[in-house]
Amino acid sequence: MTNNTIKHIASPLARQTLLDGDLTRPIAGGRPIRLLPWLQVVKIGGRSIMDRGAEAILPIVEEIRKLLPEHRLLILTGAGIRARHVYGVGLDLGLPVGSLATLGASEAGQNGHILASLLASEGVSYVEHPTIASQLAIHLAATRAVVGSAFPPYHHHEFPTSRIPSHRADTGAFLLADALGAAGLTIVEDVDGLYSDDPNSSDGDQAQFISEATAAEVLNHQNALPFDRELLDVMTTARHIEHVQIINGLVPGRLTAALRGEHVGTIIHTGASKL
Ligand SMILES: Nc1ncnc2c1ncn2[C@@H]1O[C@H](COP(=O)(O)OP(=O)(O)OP(=O)(O)O)[C@@H](O)[C@H]1O
Ligand SMILES: [Mg+2]
Repeated sequence: MTNNTIKHIASPLARQTLLDGDLTRPIAGGRPIRLLPWLQVVKIGGRSIMDRGAEAILPIVEEIRKLLPEHRLLILTGAGIRARHVYGVGLDLGLPVGSLATLGASEAGQNGHILASLLASEGVSYVEHPTIASQLAIHLAATRAVVGSAFPPYHHHEFPTSRIPSHRADTGAFLLADALGAAGLTIVEDVDGLYSDDPNSSDGDQAQFISEATAAEVLNHQNALPFDRELLDVMTTARHIEHVQIINGLVPGRLTAALRGEHVGTIIHTGASKL
């Protein structure tokens, strides 16, 4: 529409506040498109896999190598023990959470560089977040898998709700998988899945294995978890990913089975399964 020399651009959201859900829902309430519906996202634990070194990393690298003809993968790495160390030093010095988030993210990136180097001969590279955001499709057209950091880039914008960054690798992996409309997210740990309490604690033999649950149920769980608590919050408002499976990456074949849709760990259902 042109009026004199002023061009008016029609927008269904132009005349209303974005804060009123009743007004925005008819326009913004639909399910977004799936950008990469064939993509499998795999989060590799920093502490549970990468920190164990060759003994844990080499078998999983071999398993991923064999999976490449079958799946196109975004492999995301967690931060592990070096991030815990840097948080400890930073907290002792009084650094704000935004500084700690940036430091933790760099450790997750280092683990990604290590994993990508071991898969480089298969055409796998480490890519930074801006590349994941805008060029993942072209990379995955050229190769079967790429590696990135699972840490979300909140960096200095990290919410100051706690002194330790609350949006860590599991949350970051989920946010990416859901935004991409991926086929699935598998979280690789050093335990068979979620238990009622930490199975490696002093009274861990009392812990019960939980084969399947909803994110809302696990949110009520007061004991320790093998993933960021924030993950459960983002799972309840998921748009695409209907469930996440947590598996033991120290057991050969578990990742292969999980990517084939077999129930071999703990399945946690998200809010998207009800949409
Ligand atoms: N409820 C629980 N069920 C299962 N494991 C638990 C539970 N609570 C704590 N854990 C512990 O969590 C450990 C995994 O640690 P964590 O999740 O910190 O590692 P990670 O995912 O590899 O780390 P990162 O987030 O840096 O990638 C398991 O070895 C287990 O001892
Ligand atoms: Mg974990």
